[in-house]
This record gives sequence, C-alpha cells and structure tokens, in this order.
Amino acid sequence: MEIRKTETPSRELLLLADEVEASVADYIGRGTCYAACDDGRIVGQYVLIHTRPFTAEVVNIAVVPDRQRQGIATALLAHAVDTARRAGFRLLEIGTGNSGFGQIALYERCGFVRCGIDVDYFRKHSPTPIFENGVECRHMVRLRMELV
Ligand SMILES: CC(C)(COP(=O)(O)OP(=O)(O)OC[C@H]1O[C@@H](n2cnc3c(N)ncnc32)[C@H](O)[C@@H]1OP(=O)(O)O)[C@@H](O)C(=O)NCCC(=O)NCCS
Repeated sequence: MEIRKTETPSRELLLLADEVEASVADYIGRGTCYAACDDGRIVGQYVLIHTRPFTAEVVNIAVVPDRQRQGIATALLAHAVDTARRAGFRLLEIGTGNSGFGQIALYERCGFVRCGIDVDYFRKHSPTPIFENGVECRHMVRLRMELV
C-alpha cells in the first residue's frame, strides 16, 4: 500500500466521512488530499488543511468499508503527522462526533489528546439529526497533537 497526494479523491470516501456536502466542498477547495492506494484502488484517504498559523487539521479521513479494521487509518494518521511536521506545522488537530467512540479511541491511540468540545456543531450544521451507538451525534470532540 502506498500513500500519496491526489488531485482526484474518491467522492464515495469523502461522503463516507462527512455527509454534509457543503463541508466536503469547503475542505477540498482549501486542503490537500492524500490517498492510500492498493493495486491502483483508493482504499483510504484524508485531507490536510491549514487552519491557523502553525496549525493544520486532518479532516475527512475515511477507509473503504471492506478494508476497515486493518490499520489503514492508523497508517494515514502517521502519514499526516509526518507530512504536517515536515511542512513546519507545530500543532495537528482532528475532530469527530461525540458518539464516534471508535474514532475517538483510534485518534487517542495515535497520540491525539482531547482538548475541547465544539458544542452543538452537528446540530447546527447537519441537515438531519445523526444517531450513532445509540447516542445523538451532537457535539464535535476536538483533539490535538503537539508536533514540536
Ligand atoms: C474511522 C475509520 C477511518 C477507521 O479506519 P480503519 O482503517 O478501520 O482504522 P484502523 O484499522 O487503523 O484502526 C482501527 C481502530 O480504530 C477504532 N475503530 C475504528 N472504527 C471503529 C468502529 N467502527 N468501532 C469501534 N472501534 C473502531 C478501534 O480502536 C480499532 O481498533 P481495533 O480494530 O483493534 O478494535 C473508518 O472506520 C471509517 O472510514 N469510518 C467511516 C468514516 C468516518 O467515520 N471517518 C471519521 C470521521 S471523524
């Protein structure tokens, strides 16, 4: 498997990570997309965006359903950390829904630390209520990693 920059991200994966089309369009317009490719197929991807001075954020990370739980997202996150560090960023951030218990565990396992809550983010921005693991996905849990 190889991870490289792509100008032609998989739309299916972009929408798997974020159902809100407007957010996807915003990320793609101002970020750089990296794809994990296996035998010419995109099996996972993420977008790296520059948010504030010295700060980058991983958004829209997703892995195709038939290749999940095989370490691909872990490899993508390690790639994001390396890419952001090499580019001179000092802080790398990521966010996920309060009901995304698997995602939160994954990000913490990769070295991100919970640092805040964007209250009612999904209630404000999602066209329909989202439920996951029997819990309303209402807030965005913010996590970050110091790169220096
Ligand atoms: C979240 C996602 C990117 C993880 O990709 P992945 O390649 O399966 O992740 P990895 O194999 O590197 O890591 C798996 C670990 O993450 C956690 N995890 C990931 N998905 C999980 C799930 N659905 N349920 C429980 N734990 C999960 C677990 O800790 C798991 O470890 P385990 O398999 O030993 O239990 C993938 O499930 C996905 O694309 N989901 C849909 C899109 C999405 O939610 N994107 C994130 C938006 S914030």
